[in-house]
Amino acid sequence: MSKTNIAVFVSGSGTNLQAIIDSGIESANIAVVVCDIPGVMAIERARKHGIPVELVNSGDFESREEFERQIVAKIDGYDIDLVVLAGFMRILTPYFIGCFSNRIINIHPSLLPSFPGTNSVRQALDYGVKKTGCTVHFVREEVDAGPIILQAVVPITEEDTEETLLEKIHTEEYRILPEAIRLFCEGKLTLSGRRVLISS
Ligand code: GAR
Repeated sequence: MSKTNIAVFVSGSGTNLQAIIDSGIESANIAVVVCDIPGVMAIERARKHGIPVELVNSGDFESREEFERQIVAKIDGYDIDLVVLAGFMRILTPYFIGCFSNRIINIHPSLLPSFPGTNSVRQALDYGVKKTGCTVHFVREEVDAGPIILQAVVPITEEDTEETLLEKIHTEEYRILPEAIRLFCEGKLTLSGRRVLISS
């Protein structure tokens, strides 16, 4: 089976990156990890598995687009087919999104369109919803608003704290993000307007 080259973008601990690595998706090759924060655990995880890391420190650039142009230049040689945002905490500009049209996916810790943006787990607890979860979606210019590929539901109990709920959401993220990558790499995702159709 020919493999799809993916670039995984990270900013922090990289537990979703680890889940992608551990899932061993046969149709995907993690060609490069891109990180915007020096010294984070995600870099260690990638290096441990012999995956090249391109560190592009967002603090070194005057504008978001300059930062993204540097990323595009750095990943140019890797022949990337899919960009996976796995805890990448920068908002992408139309420039970058246009470079990888319909080829950028993101994992978000809520059932979108509820609780977009930051602190989604806290927002869900404060609102008092009885269920939250996580969403994998295609990336569009509007934040956390692209067509939805997969979602998983997590019930909220009265005992839940932000920490316990995040742990439960993570468990689901580690399942649906690799699954969405696999579906993309096997050519099983088709866009129909805002809907993502999944073939078996
Ligand atoms: C994940 O829970 C992911 O859903 C979230 O960041 C975490 C990264 O954890 N992403 C967002 O909030 C994006 N808006 P990780 O670095 O351990 O994979």
